[in-house]
Amino acid sequence: MTSPQFFDCIVIGAGAAGLMCAATAGQRGRRVLVLDHANKVGKKILMSGGGRCNFTNLYMEPDNYLSANPHFCKSALSRYTQYDFLELVSRYQLAYHDKGAGELFCDDKARDILNILLAECETGGVTIQTDTAITAISKQDNEQFVIDTPRGEYQCHSLVIATGGLSIPKMGATGFGYKIARQFGLKVKETEPALVPFTLSDAWLTVAQELAGVSIDISVTCRQQTFNEALLFTHRGLSGPAILQISNYWYSSDEITIDFLPTQSVAELIEQWKTAGEKATLKTLLGHYLPKRFVLTWLGLIAADLGDKLVKQLSNQEIEKLSQFFHHWTIKPSGTEGYRTAEVTRGGVDTDGISSKTFEAKTTENLYFIGEVLDVTGWLGGFNFQWAWSSGWCAGQYV
Ligand code: FDA
Repeated sequence: MTSPQFFDCIVIGAGAAGLMCAATAGQRGRRVLVLDHANKVGKKILMSGGGRCNFTNLYMEPDNYLSANPHFCKSALSRYTQYDFLELVSRYQLAYHDKGAGELFCDDKARDILNILLAECETGGVTIQTDTAITAISKQDNEQFVIDTPRGEYQCHSLVIATGGLSIPKMGATGFGYKIARQFGLKVKETEPALVPFTLSDAWLTVAQELAGVSIDISVTCRQQTFNEALLFTHRGLSGPAILQISNYWYSSDEITIDFLPTQSVAELIEQWKTAGEKATLKTLLGHYLPKRFVLTWLGLIAADLGDKLVKQLSNQEIEKLSQFFHHWTIKPSGTEGYRTAEVTRGGVDTDGISSKTFEAKTTENLYFIGEVLDVTGWLGGFNFQWAWSSGWCAGQYV
């Protein structure tokens, strides 16, 4: 049997948070080892933002995050901000652009972000080892952590769990971090797929399938939270940025309400056309503001001949029904597409048991949890990576 290898700090998980933490600690002079069971590092970085990685958001605020304790994220987000990460990538002359709403993407490819993190790890003398499954973790009487793997035993003074959430198991996601949290006496908040498309069933599924590929700028509301972005009908239900955003707030059996014309009032448009004496049909009027395929299907759901009616012939009752259907469509999704397609996991290690300053577990000295494994979930738009950078950097100061 080979003798154990000793490190000041071992980080489990070579993703966004783990690499940031390792680089930071390494550059403080700590001897750091990163272990990952996958065959490659930073897989989610590489697949993120459609291959261009939406690596932060210029308008990041704590309100862009969900957690049982909404205050937990504030400290780290203010100590390592979006501007700190921009300063880092600018040192490497990364070319990037704002895709709108402050969402910063690489001009070229997500690999550029991973390369920056790896270069920072190299500067810090960090050792990275992939293809290493962890079989057990324990803490000895001498305060060292012991990490057992089929490739040998490792020991360290500080142990960082950066194993992320459950989304995209094919990319190496596991519930390992939650298991270790429980082992050391921490609680784990219930986990759910988030930033995920909704599935529909029965008649509404047939409607969605008919409209698959149609995209509309909508306003969607659930539990008093509203997002104004695009919706996309799919063969399984509803997707698009607006739906992914609201999925963060959605719980099974909740209804969502959609306004398909958030910047116009159907009733007012009809009134204007009536006053102007337009001889147009209802489908012609609505076709000016919404995709024609959607208008025809949607009107057909109210009444077969409604679309062909002249605007001036519409009764008040019909206008009321139209307003309801176009501005307040309420639907109960049958579920979500699950972890297979979810971008993130809502819930995770209960932040009550973690220091918001150091990320150390309150139950166990020198054990740290960072990134998505924690019960902190960001909106779509670069917020989840910013959380990985902020929590990773802050823990990196203490491990
Ligand atoms: P991350 O998941 O990055 O890393 C965890 C690491 O731990 C992995 O390398 C994994 O292999 C390893 N691991 C897991 N279990 C292990 C075990 N048992 N033993 C050893 N190692 C283990 N966010 C954003 O801000 N902008 C974006 O553009 C996108 N785009 C995007 C696209 C897609 C398709 C997905 C799935 C996700 C995004 N995200 C995103 C979310 C973002 O990728 C995510 O929030 C961060 O990667 C989380 O960083 P972590 O380091 O916490 O976990």
